[in-house]
Amino acid sequence: MYQFDVVIIGAGLAGLRAAHRLADRYRTAVISKVYPMRSHTGAAQGGIAASLGNATSDSWESHMWDTVKGGDYLGDQDAIELLVRDAPATVYDLEHLGVAFSRDEQGRIAQRPFGGHSEPRACYAADWTGHTLLHTMYEQTVDSGAHFFDEWHALALDVQDGDCRGCVAMDVKTGAIESFQSRAVVMATGGYGRAFSITSNAGANTGDGLYLASCAGLPLEDMEFVQFHPTGFKGLGVLVTEGARGEGAYLRNRDGERFMRTYAPDRMELAPRDVVARAIATETEQGRGIDGGPCVHLDLTHLSENTIRERLPQIRDISLGLLGVDPVTEPIPIQPTAHYSMGGIPTDIHGRVLLDAAGAVASGLFAAGECACVSVHGANRLGTNSLLDAALFGARAGEAAGEYLGSASEKHFDGRLAERCGREVETIVNGRGGENHAELLRELQTVMMEGCGVFRSRDGMQKCLDQVMAIQCRFAHIRLNDSSRTFNTDLIGALQTRSLVHIAEVIVRGALAREESRGGHFRTDFPKRDDDAWLRHTYARRLADGGIEFSYQPVAITRHQPQERGY
Ligand code: FUM
Repeated sequence: MYQFDVVIIGAGLAGLRAAHRLADRYRTAVISKVYPMRSHTGAAQGGIAASLGNATSDSWESHMWDTVKGGDYLGDQDAIELLVRDAPATVYDLEHLGVAFSRDEQGRIAQRPFGGHSEPRACYAADWTGHTLLHTMYEQTVDSGAHFFDEWHALALDVQDGDCRGCVAMDVKTGAIESFQSRAVVMATGGYGRAFSITSNAGANTGDGLYLASCAGLPLEDMEFVQFHPTGFKGLGVLVTEGARGEGAYLRNRDGERFMRTYAPDRMELAPRDVVARAIATETEQGRGIDGGPCVHLDLTHLSENTIRERLPQIRDISLGLLGVDPVTEPIPIQPTAHYSMGGIPTDIHGRVLLDAAGAVASGLFAAGECACVSVHGANRLGTNSLLDAALFGARAGEAAGEYLGSASEKHFDGRLAERCGREVETIVNGRGGENHAELLRELQTVMMEGCGVFRSRDGMQKCLDQVMAIQCRFAHIRLNDSSRTFNTDLIGALQTRSLVHIAEVIVRGALAREESRGGHFRTDFPKRDDDAWLRHTYARRLADGGIEFSYQPVAITRHQPQERGY
């Protein structure tokens, strides 16, 4: 059994920020199922939001208003105020740690426009922002003395009576299953975009942390809110940064028309993502997609080659590599792609995990980044607010965990948990049924895309739910091709599919229950927002009998009363 003061699960931006705040004082372990620099933070391209006011005058008040409105009033405004007020200090902190931001002509951090933001406040490093942040935080965290367990897959959390005492994880390299006793755990495991067939998410984004939390009896908040980013590469979903539209790119339908005029005449291509993704889906469903399919064009050809080379080099490279399209001379075919999970493990503004909708706080358990729901993004996140969320609330969760450790005594870890995990893994490895987990995952992703995507309806979601439940049953009959212990990626794939089939059910049931449209959750049968009935957060808890129990919590409204949302 390993013993640490604190274990951080996940080594993306949020996890590293937490570890960096703890490792000089406490025995700190960072467990990551991928090598840290392969964490999905590295795929974030366009920027991190802060009202530095380098490009125009800006204020936290303006950032707050954009975030509240962008989230369709579901974001908790006390948490949003904290996010936007602390954003400049967070960005300067990252700069001082060594992040190489792009610069404006005066040498200040460069800022570009982004969807839903009324001022240019995306601080960027060309279109490598997440990559740059991740590398800087990794080298700083290694330097701070944290102990890294790279390529270890977390299997269970030990939570007893609301108190977290550590976790169990498997060393992917050897198959060994080990207990990690700790006085505190910080969850920073990212999102679950891989529940959908078209996604910008890395293969590792399979919602494992949420699955662990749910199995430990904790609730998940607002899981029905999944963001579709408007611009994923055709057929693949790989991200084309919103920074491209920030630099002036146009969206055009098959007739070459800039169709955003119809949907968001004031903001055009820089409306929030839910609005733009629905506009694209509407165009293509009405037959105005290119080649009659689900794609439209993202047109950068009027931008100078120099702008593309300097500010969007990765996009050009990926576009050439994946589609053979040079954006300097040709428009890129794009389609909406599952990008971000607004929901997650509920936390307060200190990153402390909440046990229920009434706000009871778990002891020794923290969460930050995409796996958490603070909730600052409400029903639709604005681009560049997620790197900010991860950097800021990751650090806050680290601070809060440090404060907790200052007085928390040693805990007794339940040794039976590792045995249970071992039995579960054996059951999967020795399964002799006829099902293939990779095929089940493909089916799951397809039904989720069709039934619970940009547009949703009761009939479509009910069908989707039936299919998800059937896939869940079939998962009990999988057979692996590899029964070895050493780097068994077949087993890891099965564990990830297990997480996703669980998460998918929570998403669909939550979406069926929410009979309104708000942000990223759009129901064709309930096309209006309904504040009287649904200005509230969903809490979904898995019961011992396998069912899911829903409860609801009011939204914190401080400065901005809900009003009609138009762009
Ligand atoms: O479009 C992008 O560069 C993505 C940024 C984000 O999701 O915040």
